[in-house]
Amino acid sequence: MRAVIAIVAVAAVMGCTSSTEKAVAPPAEVAGVPDSQLGLSKTSVFEVPAAAPFVYAAHEPGENRLLPRMTAEAPPMIPHEVAEFLPITRDANACVDCHAVEAQEPGGPVPLPASHYVDLRNAPGARRDTVAGARYVCTACHAPQAAVQPLVGNDPAG
Ligand code: HEC
Ligand code: HEC
Repeated sequence: MRAVIAIVAVAAVMGCTSSTEKAVAPPAEVAGVPDSQLGLSKTSVFEVPAAAPFVYAAHEPGENRLLPRMTAEAPPMIPHEVAEFLPITRDANACVDCHAVEAQEPGGPVPLPASHYVDLRNAPGARRDTVAGARYVCTACHAPQAAVQPLVGNDPAG
């Protein structure tokens, strides 16, 4: 408000007309938007709401169902617990130990897709014998399934 008064005062000193003074003042409806209406989260911007806690579902490999993918290019969600298979280190990768199979046995791990054996940066046309470096840390792309409510809906009707 002080800034507005100062600008009006300067404008008056410079001999501006009253129409210029009106243009400087912010429109009433903009000045009146409460901070709780500024974002998708209908809380004050000065509050930090705590997200609801959730737990990953407890399923050993082979016990759960696969979720449909959002798109063909999306990394599928991991249907089983991962805590006992982490961390992934240079010398130990339990994910590869299970998933580097040629074909799927009933109830067995889903084989790594061909894309995970291709080094796209250095040799895009060649299939390696081992998992490409960029695919080695599986959890950089794949996340375990969890029953989590979306923070903000994206259905205009709902
Ligand atoms: C003991 C063997 C085993 C280990 C270790 C393992 N998995 Fe699995 N994984 C499975 C099996 C079996 C399935 C088939 C689905 C199920 O759980 O029934 C599966 C399914 C998946 C799928 C779903 C694929 C799809 O098409 O939807 C992903 C992704 C996956 N695992 C990623 C991982 C990652 C990442 C790790 C390491 C953190 C890992 N897995 C460790 C056995 C294993
Ligand atoms: C850079 C991201 C990325 C990393 C890292 C990655 N994946 Fe994937 N993964 C994907 C994407 C994207 C798909 C789906 C497209 C495809 O098949 O290439 C996929 C598909 C899969 C599938 C499903 C195969 C099928 O035929 O249904 C399995 C199983 C899988 N990944 C396991 C793993 C494991 C185990 C690792 C670690 C060794 C890993 N992924 C590392 C992105 C990644």
